[in-house]
Amino acid sequence: MKIKFKNQLNGKRLTLKRTRPSLKMAEVMFKVIDENRIHLEPWFPWPKQTQKIEDSLKYLFDKEEKTVQGKQLEYGLFVNLKYIGNISIFDIHRENKSAEIGYWLSSAQTRKGYMTEAVKILEKEAFENLDLNRVQIKCDEENVASCGVATKCGFTYEGTFREDDYSEYFNDFRNTSVFSKLKSEYQ
Ligand SMILES: CC(C)(COP(=O)(O)OP(=O)(O)OC[C@H]1O[C@@H](n2cnc3c(N)ncnc32)[C@H](O)[C@@H]1OP(=O)(O)O)[C@@H](O)C(=O)NCCC(=O)NCCS
Repeated sequence: MKIKFKNQLNGKRLTLKRTRPSLKMAEVMFKVIDENRIHLEPWFPWPKQTQKIEDSLKYLFDKEEKTVQGKQLEYGLFVNLKYIGNISIFDIHRENKSAEIGYWLSSAQTRKGYMTEAVKILEKEAFENLDLNRVQIKCDEENVASCGVATKCGFTYEGTFREDDYSEYFNDFRNTSVFSKLKSEYQ
């Protein structure tokens, strides 16, 4: 079954626009990443690897290749035309009809319910248009904000992978909590 990815998804407050490999998008993304290093670096390795606009542009081209292959779909989050972060659905597995959602937001825009809104928009797309049966969210067990989004969105806590992820930031092996939602649980 050929899935048509939508270029824009609309919420009450948020507009989700598919991120494309362009210099403009790379500039916009890089600026927000650069301003949010302290906020993002505990939870992702890529802010440290993103040191110039060209790094963001390369990321966008690499990601677009995965989109063409049907494996990943990423949206920029916009509030009144202002870019505030990203949400993506990745590791899309056609046979298992499964995928994972990942996200990040500019620190100034946190605690306003934006990521809860974004996850709900993307899970709707996943279950209603992308023909998926299971969506998971994985996060460091100490990332209370990310675990909080998964819980608030009604994802079920499945368990914790023990020390499955090495973090350069913490210089330690980290535990990863896994949450999921099935199509049968989605309404
Ligand atoms: C994780 C992140 C995207 C959350 O976005 P957000 O828009 O602030 O989340 P929401 O406002 O939708 O919060 C949903 C729930 O999560 C919990 N939560 C969110 N931030 C929290 C925090 N700092 N401390 C404790 N609980 C928090 C709350 O239960 C909240 O519901 P409530 O506001 O009704 O109490 C944001 O903090 C972020 O970008 N963090 C850095 C990047 C990151 O960790 N990404 C995920 C990696 S797995």
